[in-house]
Parts: sequence; structure tokens; C-alpha cells
Amino acid sequence: MGLSLDFGSPVNTALLLYILYSVQRILFPSTEIPLTIPNEFKSGYSWIPESHPPTLLYKTYTPITLEPFNGKDGGRILLAIDGIVFDVTNGRNFYGPNGMYGNFAGRDASRGMAKQSFDTEMLTPLDQPLDKLEGLAKDEIENMKGWIDHFSNKYIVCGNLVNNGAV
Ligand code: HEM
Repeated sequence: MGLSLDFGSPVNTALLLYILYSVQRILFPSTEIPLTIPNEFKSGYSWIPESHPPTLLYKTYTPITLEPFNGKDGGRILLAIDGIVFDVTNGRNFYGPNGMYGNFAGRDASRGMAKQSFDTEMLTPLDQPLDKLEGLAKDEIENMKGWIDHFSNKYIVCGNLVNNGAV
């Protein structure tokens, strides 16, 4: 009986070569992005993306740390409703500097959403405690919750909003 080179049959030799090739592809994946990115498992995935795709970290914001996310610098746009912070960057047409709802960008939009209003009095000044939503009618609260539903279905929740100094 031959030593290690006797694989028994050509089929076994072929299988062994295939296994060695597969293991080699797993251990030493290519870092080159293929010309066409595979979109199904069958077309193969033995490559490493050059960089990790952008990630979204759930964070606690305060009015002051939320405000810079107003999209004026072309960056991410966040807004809060009832303490929930949404990443509305994909809605830049609405919330960007030229957007119809740009007033809400980087802000606690709760009261404006409840009362369906862009009035500046709807926004709590940045250095003040969070709006406790006092004085809102039941249907206004319902309206606000409707917007939370809308935003939850459309955007990603990326944090919560607490008072300045609470983190
Ligand atoms: C002249 C009055 C208004 C017009 C013509 C108008 C028009 C629109 C239109 C066309 C959309 C897009 C809907 C979609 O594509 O999903 C929209 C969405 C929206 N509107 Fe208005 N709107 C008006 C007033 C208001 C007011 C007063 C508010 C105050 C809260 C408001 C808040 C919003 C919000 C938050 C959205 C959702 C945007 C998103 O999905 O990110 N709108 N509006």
C-alpha cells in the first residue's frame, strides 16, 4: 500500500483537491472587490470588503448634542419625537437646510408634530429642560403618536433624548 499519495481513486483525488482549494479560499480570502459584487450566496463570497460599511450606534442624546445633526453641514440628520431619536438622513429633501421641515432637524420635534406646526414656539430652546408636552390635547398627542408610527416604519431609531447634563 502506497503511503500518503495513494488517494484510492481519481474521484477521491479530485475531491481532496477541491477541499484544499476551498479551505485555501476561506483561510486566504481575496481583498480585491470583484468586478460585480455577488448578490447571492451561489455566486461566491471569498473576498473581504475593503472597509466595514457605515454603522449606526444607538446613543443617548441631549438637546445640545442633538442640535449639530441638523444637516446644515451635509452630514447626518437626526430629530426626536417624544424622546425617540430618529435618523432621518434619508429624508434630506424634507429635513435638509432647504427642506420644508428643516426646522425639526436636530431638534425635539414632539410639540410641532403634535400640533402640526412649524412655529418657532414649538421648539424648546436648546438650554431648557425637555418639553414635558403639557397642555397638549388628547388628539394632539394621538397625532404625535401617529408621526412616531410613520417615522418608525420609515427611519431607523438611533437613540433617545434626555435632558442636558443627564448623560
Ligand atoms: C401646506 C401644507 C403641507 C403640505 C402641502 C405638505 C405636504 C407634504 C408632502 C407632499 C409630504 C410627503 C409625503 C410622502 O412622500 O411620504 C409630507 C410629509 C410630511 N409632512 Fe407635510 N405638508 C404640509 C404641512 C405639514 C405640516 C404643518 C407639518 C408639521 C408637522 C408637516 C409634516 C410632515 C412630515 C413630518 C412629513 C413626513 C416626512 C417624512 O416622511 O420624513 N406637514 N407633507
